[in-house]
Amino acid sequence: MTPADQSLATRRICALAPVVPVIVIRDATQAVPMARALVAGGLPALEVTLRTPAALEAIRAMAGVQGAVVGAGTLLTPADVKAAKAAGATFGVSPGATERLLRACEDEGLPLLPGAATATEVMALLERGYSALKFFPAAVAGGAAALKAIGAPIPQVGFCPTGGISLQNARDYLALPNVLCVGGSWVAPDGLTAAGDWAGVTTLAREAAALRG
Ligand code: 3PG
Repeated sequence: MTPADQSLATRRICALAPVVPVIVIRDATQAVPMARALVAGGLPALEVTLRTPAALEAIRAMAGVQGAVVGAGTLLTPADVKAAKAAGATFGVSPGATERLLRACEDEGLPLLPGAATATEVMALLERGYSALKFFPAAVAGGAAALKAIGAPIPQVGFCPTGGISLQNARDYLALPNVLCVGGSWVAPDGLTAAGDWAGVTTLAREAAALRG
C-alpha cells in the first residue's frame, strides 16, 4: 500500500470524529464494553495501544463491535505491525517513524499515522508520500502554537496531535486548519475502566464528540 493511499485512509478515519480515544486495556474482558461505550458516545475510531499483554486480544474483540473502527497504537516494530494486522486492526499509529516500521506498513497494507514532531520529520514523511501524521508528543512539542507554525510553510500535511490533550485544550488544536482530529486517553481513563463505569466513558465520549459540533 503506498504512503499516499495510507494517508487517504487515515484521513477518512480521522474525519469520523474530533477525537480518537487512546485506549490502554489491561484485561481483555474490558475491551468490548469499552468499545461499545465509546461508539455509543459518538467516537467510532479507536486506538488500542500495544502496551499491555491484553492489547491484541482486545483489538480482536473490539473489531467485532458494530460501528467501531479499531486501530493499534504504539506500533514500534515490523512484528507489531504484523500482529496488529492479524488481530484485525484497520489502521496503525506510531509515536515516531523508522524506515523498518514504514516499510512494514507499506508491505502489510496497514494504513499508518506515523509520528512527527519537527518540520524536518514532517518533511521526510511528506517526501515519502505521507500527508496525514500524528503530532507527538503534542503538548511538550509546542502544542497548538507549534502546529500552527508548522502549518504555515507545510499546509498540505494534516495532523492528529496526541500527548497532553484534554477536553479543556482540545479546541485550541481543532481550530487549526491542519488538524484532522486529536488523540487522547482522557476519554478512556484508567479509573473508569477499572471500575467498569461504561456509562461514565460514554459521557466523556459524548463531550469529546461535541467538540466539533
Ligand atoms: C499516546 O499514547 O499517543 C499518548 O501518550 C496519549 O497521550 P495522553 O495520555 O496524554 O492523552
